[in-house]
Amino acid sequence: MASPEAADWKQSMEWNDAYSIDHGSVDDDHMHLFRLFNDFSRAVRDDKAEPAVKPFLDELMNYTKYHFAREEALMARMKYPDLPSHQESHQRFITQVDVIIADYRAGKKVEGFLLDFVMTWLSGHILIIDKRVSDFIGEQQGASQA
Ligand SMILES: [Fe+2]
Repeated sequence: MASPEAADWKQSMEWNDAYSIDHGSVDDDHMHLFRLFNDFSRAVRDDKAEPAVKPFLDELMNYTKYHFAREEALMARMKYPDLPSHQESHQRFITQVDVIIADYRAGKKVEGFLLDFVMTWLSGHILIIDKRVSDFIGEQQGASQA
């Protein structure tokens, strides 16, 4: 029988068009992060957080670093004017995940905070910060076609 918590499980990230940035590699990376998040969230729901936390933290760190580098290279190519502040936003995420990793290594239970933090950060970052990049690219392409 499903636990009552399972019925309340809402921590999944559903992809929709509002998240689309470039219809390309950036979207692919974000979808990968959503899947990663959902797999981890499901493990937490199923009381399998214990074996899932470390692989999730490792993959989250590795993949976001890889993804941020790709996204920042795209912004540099496009001569995106707000690249420095965008990089700072990425760096703040890495710093926060580092803190969670330290807590985890110190024996603290981190999964609840980790789920809340990643879901809030990722959706907010994509919908607000990355969206500005998408708008800028759209304007550049519009200008070059005019
Ligand atoms: Fe970004």
